[in-house]
Parts: sequence; C-alpha cells; structure tokens
Amino acid sequence: MPSINMTPDPRSGAHPGLGILPTGHLMSARLDQPSTDSRAATNPIFNDNPFKLGLFCHNASVIQMSTAPEKYSPTWPRSLEIARLVDTIGLEVIVSFAGWRGAYPDDPKHCSHREYEPFTWAAAMAAVSKYPAIIGTFHAQLTHPAFVAKAASTIDHITGGRAGLNVVAGSSRLAFAQFGQTIEDHDTRYEHSDEFLAVMKKFWSAEEEFDFDGRFMKVRHGISEPKPIQSPHPAIINAGVSERGRRFAARHADIALTHLRGGEDEWREIIAAYKMLAAGEYQRPVQVWTHGYVVVGDTEAEANDYLSYYAERHADKRWVDAWIAELGENAPTLRPDQLVHMSRNWAAGGGQSLVGTPGMIVDKMTKLSRAGLNGMLMTALEPELMLSRMHTTVVPLMEQAGLRRPHVMPQVA
Ligand SMILES: Cc1cc2nc3c(=O)[nH]c(=O)nc-3n(C[C@H](O)[C@H](O)[C@H](O)COP(=O)(O)O)c2cc1C
Repeated sequence: MPSINMTPDPRSGAHPGLGILPTGHLMSARLDQPSTDSRAATNPIFNDNPFKLGLFCHNASVIQMSTAPEKYSPTWPRSLEIARLVDTIGLEVIVSFAGWRGAYPDDPKHCSHREYEPFTWAAAMAAVSKYPAIIGTFHAQLTHPAFVAKAASTIDHITGGRAGLNVVAGSSRLAFAQFGQTIEDHDTRYEHSDEFLAVMKKFWSAEEEFDFDGRFMKVRHGISEPKPIQSPHPAIINAGVSERGRRFAARHADIALTHLRGGEDEWREIIAAYKMLAAGEYQRPVQVWTHGYVVVGDTEAEANDYLSYYAERHADKRWVDAWIAELGENAPTLRPDQLVHMSRNWAAGGGQSLVGTPGMIVDKMTKLSRAGLNGMLMTALEPELMLSRMHTTVVPLMEQAGLRRPHVMPQVA
C-alpha cells in the first residue's frame, strides 16, 4: 500500500490525501470551521478530523431489515461492548434512534419493536464511555422542551460536555398513534420543531423564571438547572431530507444528517446546499453527515457474499415493503429495477453502501469527503464485528489517506 503525503498544500490548505478540490468545494469545507468551536474542548463532534465517524441506531433493532439470525438486537451487555469499542477506535459519536415501535401493526413479536428509550439509553452509554458524543433522539411533537433541556443537561454533566440531541420531525404514523396523537402535516412538524428549539434554548440560558405562550406549547415559571456544560448548548443534530428540513437544519443544527442520492456531483450539490444556506442566511457553519451500512471483507467477493446473505437471501421483505409504504407520500415513482435496488438497500441498512475491502471502503469515504461530507454514521448486521474490523483494517488506511488523525484518548484530570 503506497503511503500518502500528509503535508497540506501551502496555497489552498487542502490535504493532498483528499485530492485537490475545486474552489467552490474548498469554500464549503472552510465554512465548517469545526475546530474553532469552543465545544471542541470536550465534544469530539467538533474536532478537526476531516472525516468523522459514528454509530447509528444501536439502541434499537431497526436497521438491517433481515431475518438472518446474527441480526443485531440491543441488550445491555452488547451496548457495553459497543461503548468499549467506540472508545478504543475513537469514533466521534453514538446516535440513538427514536421509533417507539416497529413499522407494521400486525405482528407484536416482530424484532423491529425492540428499542431502548433513546435518552435513558444515552444516559447509560454516557456513563460507561469516555470519548464519543452521546446523542439522544426525540420528536418535538411527542415531548416538551422542559424535559429535553434537562435530559440533555444531565447527560452533558455525566459526560463532562459530550452530550447532544437529534431532533427529528418524524414520519411514522404508528409511532405517533401510540402516544394517542395524529402526526402533524410536514410543514407544521417543522414549525413545531422551530418553536421547540427556541423554548429549549431559553431553558438552557434563562437565569430568571420565564413564561412562554406559543402556537404549540406553553411554559409557566420556566427554569432549568443545572445549565449544560457546553456553551452555548449541547450539540444539535437534525435528521431530514426535504427542503423544509434543510432550512431547519441550516438554522439550528450543528450537524445536518441527511440521505445522499446519486453520485459524486449530486452529493456535492446536496452538501453545498446545506452549507451555503447556513452560511448565507444564518451566518453559521453546519456540518453535513450521512449514514451507511458497512461490510468489511478480506476480498470484495467475501464482502458481497455476506451482503447478499443478509440483505437478499434473508431480506425481511414484509418489513421492507411496510417501510417503503411508510415513506410513501415523499417517495418518487420508481421503475421496477429501481424499486428492487431500493428494497435491497433498505434491507442492507439504508443510506450509503460501504461494502468491500478496507481499501474500497476508504476510497468511497475519500470521494464523500471530496464532495464536502463531514462524517458518516455507520450501521452493521453485527456491529461489534464491524467495529473490530474497522479498527484493525479501515481506520489505519483512513489515517494514511488524511481522513483522520490517530486517536489519542484525552487524559481526564
Ligand atoms: C438520517 C436520518 C435519520 C432519521 N432518524 C429518525 C428517527 O430516529 N426517528 C424518526 O422518527 N425519524 C427519523 N428520521 C426521519 C425524520 O424524522 C424526518 O421526519 C423525515 O426524514 C421526514 O422529514 P423530511 O421530509 O424533512 O425528510 C430520520 C431521517 C434521516 C434522513
């Protein structure tokens, strides 16, 4: 394996390991300025690794729509092992999922119902980990800022400043029905989330009691102590894909977590749209991350065999169909071959495919990085196995490629 020149270009500051980017892309990369954020002192989401890594959804059995017996199901011993591996590798973040129940109504024993409550699990993961940011996921419509502001502050104190929140507008009618609620229409959900964040920030900052009378919520004698450690507040993630979602993320989020369609040109456009909107309209930086499933093989054939084992031969077709129907109204009309591809991709874990040899996976990450992506949340059928392989084979190549620096665990006084 040839080694890669790690010295930045003196004119552009671009890392040769990442290739020379056209001017527009350098501009959007500079907009991130993650290392100037004071929260970088405690929260690795703001460190200066060009390509950050995290784990997605391991409080739940929601990703990888597969009947393969090895499919991940959350237990506390497995969560402990995941926390240990994440600390060892130096992944930047663990992000929980909020779904509340599985994707179809007629099978109470189906594995997709199994989910630890995101904030309770996040607090426990906070206590047993030392390095990553720990993210609780919530729906604005199903809770109140008085609760979430305090929950996030509690996790920020448990971790010494590594807490964060993932605010989702939500899309599952069944999840909302479980709370006796009808899901609000798309734009109303985002207006609700806007108001929620304004009130939550007030709870995080107010030194005096406050009242609030809004369209969606009320507060009387509001006060929340202790305040979070991170200033101005814990890291905020927003997961969404629509234009309305993009505006919300550009305005409020430190990380916009989104799907990337198409190839490199389309990725670049999607990512730049977030960063330009945040910088232009709201004068703030936003990182853009996506998620993907990871299969690391010694050979490409070995990785592809494992993928087709769990995502084709053991695809949970009923689950995939229910999921695609749930996405329903926003999904584009697809040709039959596109539908087969989309179904396989959801069975595999959804999002980007990171399947192949370590070198192939790092090549794909390098392309994503060149398009301006700041980080990737990973999922796997067997996350402990994936993390062990990432640690020994993929992460060292990422370091050679200039995507990450070697992990050094900070010394806690
Ligand atoms: C990467 C990603 C992660 C998401 N995670 C969740 C989640 O944990 N719970 C949930 O109910 N919705 C989740 N969603 C769906 C969002 O809540 C959002 O409602 C959905 O994407 C529709 O909004 P949009 O039209 O702006 O995309 C996620 C979406 C994306 C793209």
